[in-house]
Amino acid sequence: MEKQLLAVEGLTVEYWARRGRVRAVDSVSFTLDRAETLGVVGESGSGKSTLGLSLIRLIPPPGRIIGGHLWLEGTDLLKLREEEMRNVRGRKIAFVFQDPMTSLNPVKKIGEHFVELIRTHEPKTGREEALRRAEKLLNDVGIQSERINDYPHQLSGGMRQRVMIALSIALNPSIVIADEPTTALDVIVQAKILDLLKNVQNVYAMALILITHDLSIALERCNKILVMYAGQMVEYASVENIYNKPQHPYTRGLLKSIPNIELAEQKLEAIPGSPPDLLNPPRGCRFWPRCPSSIGKCREREPQPVETEPGHFVRCFLHEVAGNESN
Ligand SMILES: Nc1ncnc2c1ncn2[C@@H]1O[C@H](COP(=O)(O)OP(=O)(O)OP(=O)(O)O)[C@@H](O)[C@H]1O
Ligand SMILES: [Mg+2]
Repeated sequence: MEKQLLAVEGLTVEYWARRGRVRAVDSVSFTLDRAETLGVVGESGSGKSTLGLSLIRLIPPPGRIIGGHLWLEGTDLLKLREEEMRNVRGRKIAFVFQDPMTSLNPVKKIGEHFVELIRTHEPKTGREEALRRAEKLLNDVGIQSERINDYPHQLSGGMRQRVMIALSIALNPSIVIADEPTTALDVIVQAKILDLLKNVQNVYAMALILITHDLSIALERCNKILVMYAGQMVEYASVENIYNKPQHPYTRGLLKSIPNIELAEQKLEAIPGSPPDLLNPPRGCRFWPRCPSSIGKCREREPQPVETEPGHFVRCFLHEVAGNESN
């Protein structure tokens, strides 16, 4: 049997700052199959970026992974040495950041970024060959090959994000993680970049983890969705189930806040309140202070994720079946 592409088990990440410890990712588990698209959705501060970066072990200090497993085709990435991990980044798992200017070097021509990346991983590849590959990759993302001689500031924001996508696929990785890849762009360019990601994903047969605060984008673009709240996975299911049978009150709240053109009479409702300070999360369920359906024990104990049907996980007492209760 072919090994699962990625299986994340109980991943837990903390930032040990002076003000205290923040558990930004708390025991998150999910799987990703080849060519699948997973959407990671949640409000600002819910731990989406920390989760994405921890998959390539690139969390900024003072962050550290304190528990869990990251199985990539059967190898636990958390057990690899840093030099082995460097081989995984880019070659197996690539990352597209929100702001291309943080990844592009302003004093280096576009082509040089490709030369450096390709030659770091494949030292036998000559400079000219790397540049020819850069031209082909740029063409694949809709950029003229002459642009290898431009500097990053000579390109528009949308073009820079295209360059980032071309760089991310340069080493033919099996997974691309895109963290809010379109937030800085206008709506039309946003849609084009998301279409491009889908297109390269198909052509290069990659899996994609799309991190976004916008549930409607994830519903439209992904196969599965993981909903994060205050560092925890509150619901994880197929897009169909998230849309048709959302089980967590937070997911339901997010769905109610999306404009739906099919429902002309729909009343948009924002979820009242704001997420907790992770330095001092509420006792019990992290969502109860904002939850319209909370019951007594939600304030006392923390619900654990339960699988309500195959592949559909929810962290909520309303769905906890007898026998699954921990105490
Ligand atoms: N370098 C850091 N030091 C300390 N705490 C951090 C650091 N980076 C993130 N955090 C904390 O970790 C939590 C998760 O942050 P993260 O950036 O992963 O969230 P996010 O869902 O990506 O948010 P956004 O939608 O704003 O990008 C937040 O409470 C944040 O304050
Ligand atoms: Mg983020």
